[in-house]
Amino acid sequence: MKVLLLGKGGQVGWELQRSLAPLGELVALDFDSTDFHADFSRPEQLAETVLKLRPDVVVNAAAHTAVDKAESEADFARTLNATAPGVVAEAAQQVGALMVHYSTDYVFDGSGSAPWKEDDLTGPLSVYGRTKREGEQLVAQNCARHLIFRTSWVYAARGGNFAKTMLRLAKERERLTVIDDQFGAPTGAELLADVTAHAIRATLADPHKAGLYHLVAGGETSWHGYARFVIEHAQAAGVELKAGPEAVDAVPTSAFPTPATRPHNSRLDTTRLQSTFGLTLPHWQVGVARMLRETL
Ligand SMILES: NC(=O)c1ccc[n+]([C@@H]2O[C@H](COP(=O)([O-])OP(=O)(O)OC[C@H]3O[C@@H](n4cnc5c(N)ncnc54)[C@H](OP(=O)(O)O)[C@@H]3O)[C@@H](O)[C@H]2O)c1
Repeated sequence: MKVLLLGKGGQVGWELQRSLAPLGELVALDFDSTDFHADFSRPEQLAETVLKLRPDVVVNAAAHTAVDKAESEADFARTLNATAPGVVAEAAQQVGALMVHYSTDYVFDGSGSAPWKEDDLTGPLSVYGRTKREGEQLVAQNCARHLIFRTSWVYAARGGNFAKTMLRLAKERERLTVIDDQFGAPTGAELLADVTAHAIRATLADPHKAGLYHLVAGGETSWHGYARFVIEHAQAAGVELKAGPEAVDAVPTSAFPTPATRPHNSRLDTTRLQSTFGLTLPHWQVGVARMLRETL
């Protein structure tokens, strides 16, 4: 079996290089790959790559993920998040491949407090959310056999992340202020990559499993709760901090104005994914604690 991975260098792409490797021959590409073109700003070249390689599975982990920057470069964000995935999906359909794609909680308007289900009405608040929603629609329309995973608050041990930023600030400052009115589940790139590999195998065996799924870690928290957890964990591990968990002040989103509006309710209901694939999604604290043990 041949698997084509696009966007191999991102948080999720990096972990997919590990989790997809045992499935078969893995061709992993990034926007500056030279053997085959995989630059999402040149969608026509992406189609050529898929048609040349003729993979059994295409996994797209590339995206324009700079949520605030997207507000001032909507056309570019649309090309990367919607047009290019749509072109890849069309080529995947032509070669009979299963197409895997990732989307986001930002397709919802964040109202209410109930976890969003896959079929709930979308209502993106930002360019990023709108272009990701368009990408979902194009992938689903253009490739019959697809898996689209909506996730949220992704972190990875590699590179920068929210937890590392909180730890740095807690070492530098006496007090921190963190938003406490946005709710979701921090989800590890490792978990996303592992579930993706399981879901690919299951969908190749039973094409009826193809479709749209919410995929996040279990439980929920706010950014404030997330920051406190990270700082408590670091303190317990003996890390010297100026600000302990009691010095993390809760503030509303309005305290940190940003170009893009973020949803308040990013809770995603994962019942469909867990029951279709027979998987259990561990609590978010399990993955964050593990990442912290690797980091500290
Ligand atoms: N991060 C989150 O909190 C989050 C939340 C919900 C959903 N998601 C979704 O999850 C998926 C994976 O996200 P992630 O967190 O792994 O994002 P990421 O770390 O930003 O990775 C995105 C990848 O896309 C690459 N890329 C950028 N421009 C490109 C281009 N023109 N051609 C080809 N590749 C290009 C980036 O390369 P460079 O790094 O070199 O620019 C990077 O490797 C995305 O679909 C994202 O929308 C993410």
